Amino acid sequence: MFQRTVLALALTLCGGAYAQVAVTIDAGKPGPVIDKNVYGQFAEHLGTGIYGGMWVGPESKIPNVKGWRKDVIGALKALHVPLVRWPGGCFADEYHWRDGIGPRSKRPVKVNTNWGGVEEDNAVGTHEFFELAEQLGAQVYVNGNLGTGSAQEMSEWVEYMTSDSKSTLAQLRRKNGRDKPWKLDYFAVGNEAWGCGGEMTPETYASLYKTTTAFLKTPPEARPKFIASGGNDNDTTWSNVLSRDIKKNIDGISFHYYTIPTGKWAVKGAATGFPESEWFSTIRNTLKMDGMIRANKAVMDKNDPQKKVGLYVDEWGTWYDVEKGTNTGFLLQQNSLRDAVVAALNFNIFHEHADRVRMTNIAQMVNVLQAMILTDKDKMVLTPTYHAFRMYVPFQGATSLPATLQNNAAYTSGTEAVAQVSVSAARGTDGKLYVALVNTDPNKATEVTVDVSGAAVPARFTGQLLTADATDAHNTFAAPNAVKPTSYAAQAAGGKLTVKLPAKSVVVGAVE
Ligand code: AHR
Repeated sequence: MFQRTVLALALTLCGGAYAQVAVTIDAGKPGPVIDKNVYGQFAEHLGTGIYGGMWVGPESKIPNVKGWRKDVIGALKALHVPLVRWPGGCFADEYHWRDGIGPRSKRPVKVNTNWGGVEEDNAVGTHEFFELAEQLGAQVYVNGNLGTGSAQEMSEWVEYMTSDSKSTLAQLRRKNGRDKPWKLDYFAVGNEAWGCGGEMTPETYASLYKTTTAFLKTPPEARPKFIASGGNDNDTTWSNVLSRDIKKNIDGISFHYYTIPTGKWAVKGAATGFPESEWFSTIRNTLKMDGMIRANKAVMDKNDPQKKVGLYVDEWGTWYDVEKGTNTGFLLQQNSLRDAVVAALNFNIFHEHADRVRMTNIAQMVNVLQAMILTDKDKMVLTPTYHAFRMYVPFQGATSLPATLQNNAAYTSGTEAVAQVSVSAARGTDGKLYVALVNTDPNKATEVTVDVSGAAVPARFTGQLLTADATDAHNTFAAPNAVKPTSYAAQAAGGKLTVKLPAKSVVVGAVE
């Protein structure tokens, strides 16, 4: 809705402090359900994303349950994390699952060649990952190794996880402490096959995918959803070839897009202390997600008009230059109000495409790229992105509702402009009507009137507001609450419900 509105509207420049934007929600025309897995997470063996950030091991002085940090897991639980993708990423295509089972002291030590060249002692393997998912109450998404692995290795991993038989592999799982098979919800064949996953063409990958999945057998009731590794950025070739050539054993095609302020991998831009031009370019670049999803949907609609296969954006988020003095392979970056705005804009886009986008996974959960949580030894801090995820929890499993914007204003930089306001609306599983609004302009507040067509004039809006004084406001171990949501309420007056959006803000709440 947002992007189309940008293109279609004669954008009005705001002159005064408050220009009035109008939102109309059509409560009588429910759209597709927003799959809760749109709020999925990604945890890769990368830097301190898992080791130190979430996993400290059962012997650690840091309070933990079976090796997983109590503080971090407790905070993540408040996000109702629906799904976790593991073990990569690029790491997945060099990961051999047998390295991660059995007594931890006996597991082989490898080198993580993708991320920092550090030693990987395989302390976190299949059993530990399922334990994490269980503690979170999350579904699991296991990414198989097509790069340095084989169909046999993947098929044996799937058997190890899902078989209730007395096969040698199922017995090995029992010997390693897990009697009943786990519920394997999703399984992907490789990652970024166009790059770190093997530099393949989509045709080669499609052929390998078909052969591999033919051997990924489970009891019918234990069959996971299968994911083919797709394209990225502006390239729709992968979605086209995969949705055209793979007609069996496929539930989703993945897609990756990272928001880089400068748009250049060599110098991406800093996570904090950036100029306003990089606030603008970050917003502009993140909004490209909408056009990319539309383009991928268009080719998939042609090849799969019944929408059997989902488009899974299983890597997205901001990617900045790493924090000074840190291992460049660890992808550690600070997280500011800008990241929360980026997250909210992407959520609104994903909701709009709920018919096809049935899963997304922000990269990544802890200490890596656009993280929910940053840790340092026993310390932990929640990021503005964490707060955005928390504010949007009511949208998990909600039914999307059409929301149109009129009289939207422009946030401009030089000759470029993006729309000032982004909106999304949905009927929550609790029956309430939720509205999410984002003001992209770091300098101008605005007012939004909210109208619900086919229903009584709404009386009030109650929810939460996330904003801060500076565009790069962020939380630190010393000041963990510099950016956090506050309660927000608005009452209708004269038959009109008006929500005031401060500059650079996210507001989410229920209209009653
Ligand atoms: O999320 C970091 C990396 O980005 C992933 O490992 C890879 O799939 C992508 O290129």
